[in-house]
Amino acid sequence: MLGFPLIVLNFKVYLEAIGENGIRLARYAEEVSKEHGVSIAVAPPVTMLSKVIHAVGIPVFSQHVDPSPPGSWTGSVIVEMIKECGVAGSLVNHSEKRMLLADISTIIKRLRESNLITLLCTDTIETTKAGAALSPDIIAIEPPELIGTGISVSKAKPEIVAGAVDVVRKINPSVHILCGAGISTGEDVAKAIELGTEGVLLASAYVKAKDPRRLLSDMAQAALKAWEAR
Ligand code: G3P
Repeated sequence: MLGFPLIVLNFKVYLEAIGENGIRLARYAEEVSKEHGVSIAVAPPVTMLSKVIHAVGIPVFSQHVDPSPPGSWTGSVIVEMIKECGVAGSLVNHSEKRMLLADISTIIKRLRESNLITLLCTDTIETTKAGAALSPDIIAIEPPELIGTGISVSKAKPEIVAGAVDVVRKINPSVHILCGAGISTGEDVAKAIELGTEGVLLASAYVKAKDPRRLLSDMAQAALKAWEAR
């Protein structure tokens, strides 16, 4: 269902992504994915998962999932709930939704048992090392200080991206690696792939773009070009 290079669009809970606007952003992603043959996944606000899944045919991720099993856990969003919505997988431990190591481990196991894809977010080379040992399907390294700044990690901190790629390859080469934080242009995406990643995770540049479809189309073309040149 997922291929590489991969662009994952996290809609967070931006007002621009709630309701019909969120559906429109997901539809653009599907159109661009089909047009360029690049894998693109979206992570809409949790209350919109079902609607988005019914509206588009690309992989849809939950932005978060709790480690609890079914039962007496008021307000939790558990694996069985997102599975029932039809998600492809879930982000885990995003910098804006951090979790304890033991809970991350439980969630990765629970998602795997449900045949859902795990996209683990890490913030440093050290946490990437620890994360790779838990065997998620994908790791996305995102230095939190660059999130939402428009300053791309692939240009501002290439050593962190390359370092994360390196530790993942050494510890668990079956784990796919993305990077994120401040990714804003096709050039940023190309640079991320040149550093050894298999794609990007981004949010604000897409959700808040004047012309999101055009931006995503630029990113998809840049991703393909950099991928073919590897
Ligand atoms: O999950 C993606 C994210 O944290 C990066 O956000 O707005 O810098 O693309 P942004």
